[in-house]
This record gives sequence, C-alpha cells and structure tokens, in this order.
Amino acid sequence: MVENRKKPDKSAPLPLYYQVKTIIKDKIEQGDYKSGCKIEPERELAKYFDVSRMTLRKAITQLVDEGYLIRRAGEGTFVRKPKFRQGLLWLTSFTEDMKNRGLKPDSRTIFIEEDRACYYLADKLNIEENTKVIILKRLRKADGEPMCIEKSHIPKFFLKSAELTMDSLNGASLYDFLQNEGIYLNHARETLEAGIADQEEAGLLEIQIGAPVIYRERTTYNSKNTPVEFVNSTYRADRYKFYVELMRKD
Ligand code: GLP
Repeated sequence: MVENRKKPDKSAPLPLYYQVKTIIKDKIEQGDYKSGCKIEPERELAKYFDVSRMTLRKAITQLVDEGYLIRRAGEGTFVRKPKFRQGLLWLTSFTEDMKNRGLKPDSRTIFIEEDRACYYLADKLNIEENTKVIILKRLRKADGEPMCIEKSHIPKFFLKSAELTMDSLNGASLYDFLQNEGIYLNHARETLEAGIADQEEAGLLEIQIGAPVIYRERTTYNSKNTPVEFVNSTYRADRYKFYVELMRKD
C-alpha cells in the first residue's frame, strides 16, 4: 500500500511530520486506505517516508486525535470510518438522513411513557404546565451501528387517531408516523453543545464513559409555528461532524 504514496519534500518549509500526516490523511480521504484497514507498522512507514520514528509517531498521533485513525493495543493502527457530515440547514428525520446515505436506519425503543409537562417542558413546547405529554426514548442505529439517543416529547393532544406505542412505531420513523396523523413538520430550531458520555449513554452508544458526545436539542414546529416536538439527542462525536454554510452579513 505504501508503494504508490507520495513522499515528504525535505526542502519544503512545512514540518516533516505535517507533510507525512497530510499524505496519510489524503489517502484516507481518497479511499486508498479503506475504513477498517490496518496501516503498516510505524517502523515500516518511517522507513518508507525516510523520517524518524518520532516524526512518524507525531503524524500518526495527530491523525488518531483527529479521528482518522484508531490505535488498538496489541493489534496495530486502523483507519476509522469517516464521520457523517450532517448539514444543519434542512429539517430531516434520522430515517431520511440514513436512507440518503445508503444506510439502513433502525431504532430500538428504550421506553414510551405518558407524563405531565413540568415547567421546563411546558415552556419548550409552549403548553400549559401539567399538559399530557408522550415521551419516547430511542437508540438510533445506522447499518446496526449506534449513532445517537433521542428523547422526544410530544403533547398528547396532537395524537388524535393513533396511539404512539412500541407497536405503532415498531422501529419506524416518528416523522412518518406524525405525517400519517396529519401533522406536518415545517421548521425547527436547534442548539448543539459539547459533552461527555455518562454510563448510560456510553453503554447504549457503545463508546467509553467520558468519550466526547454532542448534545443536540431540537424544537420542531408545524406551519402555524406551534411546537409539536421537543427532542434531546446525544450524538457520538466520533461519528458526526456538523456543517453549515455562512455568509457575510453586509
Ligand atoms: C432526527 C432529529 C430528531 C427527530 C428524528 C426523527 O434525528 N434530530 O429530533 O426526532 O430525526 O426521526 P425519525 O422520523 O426517523 O424517527
């Protein structure tokens, strides 16, 4: 695999470790190094690039820190799956997102329960305190791999004909279910925050306790600007990066 790879230019002003890192990173991004594949031992790579082991290790360590590579004790260094690049402009469902990526969406319902809105939830959903709310907590998967945990809160009065139950949802799309109920989601407001996985999140998402996660909070509205859904989600930070295009104000 190393044979047709570029070599660092020792006369260039860029640090050698940075050049080596860029060459390996380009190969990962271009798919020459496939996700899941094991890269050559450091000794071999250092020899090929004609750099010291220390320089090579610095390049590899940065690629590990940036989520391109993963070191497995006793096994070697492997190429990680590329992160999902999720745009922040369009209101889509998890099911749509995964299908658009050619992946099979799935969800495991952790619980569905009915409760009364506390002050906080009432404020988020613009309803009276104590209004009945359906709370749905799910683990969302893509091709069997855990991606995020979602806890959706929906005022019960929206659900007129069908009941939102484990059976009615049965691993399917919540947004499709709401649409079948005649509820059309029009727009949403979101916030993203950094966090670290607690024991429950780590167990469900199959990551280490304390691993970075992204907390995503969404309020989804119908066309009358009435909140229909308030969601707290926990996304794996090693699998997601979010993307938005910005324009100058003036
Ligand atoms: C996304 C959003 C959630 C929303 C979910 C609905 O993941 N971040 O806020 O609840 O989609 O997805 P689905 O219709 O697949 O159940």
